[in-house]
Amino acid sequence: MEKFIRINKKINSFSKKICVEGDKSLSIRWVILSSLSKKKSIAYNLLKSEDVLSALDCIKTLGSKVKISKDKCEIIGNGFNFKNLKNKKKLILNAGNSGTLGRIILGLLINSKKKIKLIGDKSLSKRDFSRVTLPLKKFGAKFNRHKSLPIEMEGLENPRGINYLEKKGSAQCKTTIMLAALKSKGITKIKAKKSRNHTELLFKYLKIPIKIKKSRNFDHIKINSVNEIKPLNYKIPGDISSCAFFIVLTLLTKNSQLLIKDININPSRTGVIRILKMMGAKIKFINQKIYKGERISDIFVKSSTNLKGINCPVNYNSSAIDEFLVIFLVAAKSRGISYFKNLSELNQKESPRLKWASKILNLLEIKNITTKSSIKIYGNPNLNLNKKITIKNFLKDHRVFMMSVVAALTFGGKWKIHDCNSIKTSFPKFLEILKKIKA
Ligand code: S3P
Repeated sequence: MEKFIRINKKINSFSKKICVEGDKSLSIRWVILSSLSKKKSIAYNLLKSEDVLSALDCIKTLGSKVKISKDKCEIIGNGFNFKNLKNKKKLILNAGNSGTLGRIILGLLINSKKKIKLIGDKSLSKRDFSRVTLPLKKFGAKFNRHKSLPIEMEGLENPRGINYLEKKGSAQCKTTIMLAALKSKGITKIKAKKSRNHTELLFKYLKIPIKIKKSRNFDHIKINSVNEIKPLNYKIPGDISSCAFFIVLTLLTKNSQLLIKDININPSRTGVIRILKMMGAKIKFINQKIYKGERISDIFVKSSTNLKGINCPVNYNSSAIDEFLVIFLVAAKSRGISYFKNLSELNQKESPRLKWASKILNLLEIKNITTKSSIKIYGNPNLNLNKKITIKNFLKDHRVFMMSVVAALTFGGKWKIHDCNSIKTSFPKFLEILKKIKA
């Protein structure tokens, strides 16, 4: 793939039907949970991106068998213990660029007496791991260092359940604790600030003993240990986070419409739709159904000319956390001021995204006032560029790349956007699907 992409012209009007690739959160969770079953699990439409391939590599290192073909992936896991690893010399797991994988796999290692080293790429090595090493220490795990990768972890033979308050609203942290809870005697109780709930739904589907009580901002989760889990056959639905780039492309392009098939619309992921609708976007869910506890739907979007700025309710933040970069583009083209707050977590992602949003808005000549946790965007419905813009050194953050492509195609100007390869982590077919929309 070319190292950079040049875009010199806005996209023409379009009317298309597309599919996007499988959901990343569900793909990684399928890999991890399948590694815990000794029977064969099969996934269809698994996202074959670098993050998911790293997950497959990690569970292979831990003793699972993986067979991957064009239309499906099979895993025969090694169950709940790591006895088969005794003779291996040094174990190194490489999570690549993936925060989800790097963090949740540590939960799986809670009962490994063997020291295991976790490494990752430059971006992942800058990210916070104390959010998972601290609860795992409560379970009894030992670490050589706990803040950032590389980290060496040593689990224990008989971990016991813990009580934990998860205040950040991090689904990765919640999932890490839930995985460790499976292998820990007694009950683990987690009071977790609301975040995506795929792991809970999968646990329920697998009949793992889990109880959940919901209050306004928190979920109260109780999990009992188990000795084994069933295999997990799963058809992974499309990823709403990938879809979001094309939704915004359609909204901001005149006389256009797009139908996107079979997308996971779990309410803990659809904040982007609620926020865009508040801004005046025309988006509809069509053919909704439930699949193994998850909501799936087609999404229909039409270009929307009369967009308005909003004061974004903070209770939408967690369910839109990966989509704010493109939401900010819509705010840039809207009438009036938009205000997004309590978003310090955005700077904890693959790159400091709030900072990147501000930099890119500055390049678009859109006034913004940005702090460590908030951004105020002064929209301009007449935004139309006629200048050169180069985007580089963004820690190869896939979402910064894709956001820049959408900006280039909708606001005009002459763009050079570096690190095309970044899309391989979450959405390898992004440029191919874009070509189909343009054709
Ligand atoms: C994810 C959770 C989110 C999200 C990430 C994927 C997951 O992070 O940003 O892309 O699959 O659990 P948090 O753990 O910070 O919520």
